[in-house]
Amino acid sequence: MVNAVTEHASMREEVRQLWPEIAWIDDAKLREQVTDTWVLALKRSTLKPDDLKQIPFTLLVPNCPVSFMEHKRCVVHIARAGATAMKEFMGRALPVNMDTVIAGAILADVGKLLEYELGPDGKAQQSERGEALRHPFTGVALALECGVPDAVCHIIAAHAAEGDLVKRSTEAFIVHHADFMAYQPFKNSQNIKMK
Ligand SMILES: [Fe+2]
Repeated sequence: MVNAVTEHASMREEVRQLWPEIAWIDDAKLREQVTDTWVLALKRSTLKPDDLKQIPFTLLVPNCPVSFMEHKRCVVHIARAGATAMKEFMGRALPVNMDTVIAGAILADVGKLLEYELGPDGKAQQSERGEALRHPFTGVALALECGVPDAVCHIIAAHAAEGDLVKRSTEAFIVHHADFMAYQPFKNSQNIKMK
């Protein structure tokens, strides 16, 4: 029991180190729910925090040169900057909830911890579960289990192509476009500079 408690506390610390951006969330309860969701995902995943700094952020780009954490953190930074500009210039007409944007961006790909696994060659591959359920679905399941509010779960559900069939909230549009502007340039191999 003591071991389980210690392990849980150390996983929370690992999540805080992976995601300094969690501290940007003003609401303390939401901060905890976001942290809990990442801890739960790590507990259910075969991937370790260090793997997230190595594996590519997508399997859809051959030899993708950017890691999962580099891409994910970049998206959170883009989403916050975009939301800040929208609030500054258009906030009078278009309310934007900054906590929802940040939490949604941090959680958008949490389901990839169940969608991906390391293959026998040590490279990331899609898991059996991932073939049945892409990360927007597993991400929502993990987040709901941790009490994450529906407005944030909506972003997880609608951030990717599946969300094109959904009437996105303002916050979901912001995260969707932040995610895609940091993804789509990689689909043209001429844009990629390999190290
Ligand atoms: Fe995604």
